[in-house]
Amino acid sequence: MPHTPSVTPLIARPGSALKGRVTVPGDKSISHRALMFGALAIGRTRVEGLLESEDVVNTASAMRAFGARVERLDDGTWQIEGAGLGSLLEPEGVIDYGNAGTGVRLALGLVGSHPVAATFTGDASLIKRPMGRVLDPLRQMGAQVVSRAGDRLPLTIRGAATASPIRYRVPVPSAQVKSAVLLAGLNAPGETVVIEPVATRDHTERMLIGFGADLSVETDDAGQRTITLAGQPELKPQDIVVPADPSSAAFPIVAALITEGSDVVVENVLLNENRTGLLLTLQEMGADLVIENVRETGGERLGDIRARHSKLKGITVPAERAPSMIDEYPVLAVAAAFAEGVTHMPGLEELRVKESDRLAAVAAGLKANGITCQEGEDSLAVEGRKGAIGGGSVVTHLDHRIAMSFLVLGLAADRPVSVDDGAVIATSFPSFRTLFAGLGADIAESGERAA
Ligand code: S3P
Repeated sequence: MPHTPSVTPLIARPGSALKGRVTVPGDKSISHRALMFGALAIGRTRVEGLLESEDVVNTASAMRAFGARVERLDDGTWQIEGAGLGSLLEPEGVIDYGNAGTGVRLALGLVGSHPVAATFTGDASLIKRPMGRVLDPLRQMGAQVVSRAGDRLPLTIRGAATASPIRYRVPVPSAQVKSAVLLAGLNAPGETVVIEPVATRDHTERMLIGFGADLSVETDDAGQRTITLAGQPELKPQDIVVPADPSSAAFPIVAALITEGSDVVVENVLLNENRTGLLLTLQEMGADLVIENVRETGGERLGDIRARHSKLKGITVPAERAPSMIDEYPVLAVAAAFAEGVTHMPGLEELRVKESDRLAAVAAGLKANGITCQEGEDSLAVEGRKGAIGGGSVVTHLDHRIAMSFLVLGLAADRPVSVDDGAVIATSFPSFRTLFAGLGADIAESGERAA
């Protein structure tokens, strides 16, 4: 299975205004789920606009290992032929999920209620990430787990022959944990209930309803969501069009806001309200963002986002907004470096367990580029620039969003910014460099200058 091929140091040089209309690749969360749910439906699911990145390709390979037929057609659509819920085959070899936390956590849920054993591993980043958060509820449902490294990869899970449906209150705000329990609940007889005190991205719920599952969601006055899923539905194949990923759109949007003279439109971006925290925050900071052509497709809201260079001001981002922008804090911290005053970001404890310890990686990257910030246990405060910034080298720790965020910084700083490895960007946004080149940006391998 693919792994980041070789380390590729990159450098972003300031200078050019960014201009143009671009489309970023398909949403990563929806792409993983389209492949997985397609593999559980009886018949042929078609997916247009699937994100063809390393993480998602790893999920495609894993679904093949579990017995689904997954193919990419010449016109770029993907076709998945599932044999139905309950029909997972036992994979022959070890399944290597590379860098993909979502992929492996959701797959653990899937196996948790099927009578097969599967061994999972991942890259140097993924093997450090906590898996107990999904294994705990799966054990309650009857799954058995053997791991050498205390609920971290590599590990082997043997799913329950007849899983017990559970009522589970998710202890951390995590769509991956919620989704793993719901995936296991699909093949458990009876009702699985997941209680989510704080709303997180709801693609699993929306897509499972689309595939024909009997799933309902109740939200109380405090915003707590109770999700009830009836087990053992017959899932029906779907035609899915994947909208552009708002977490990838964040990079050209922030780059345009902080780079003088820029005017960029990012098209077809998913505007699901559990994913739009960054747009709201940037607007509160004074960003000139216009959302045009808003429409509804496949049960999701999409729109084109126009971002122009703006004078930003520091704000306090409400902690309760974190789940709706959890992957966007690194690039928000970069935007904050160009704002007047301090931007306070509380409620960031989950950033410590992402592809890297993102709080530490962002703080180190900012400091390396002359930007003052205070890293707390679960918070970050970034002071807007007072003098020249840039000129630093940033350690990415196998984290695609750290690499992309600091390259964006380099486009608007006073001196170039380099990152130790840009190959990791292929995890979620393989066309990142081409797309930025099309906008006029200068991002090149260290030692080379972009044409
Ligand atoms: C995702 C959930 C989030 C997010 C990740 C994708 C998903 O992780 O950071 O990139 O597709 O469910 P957590 O559930 O750990 O917050």
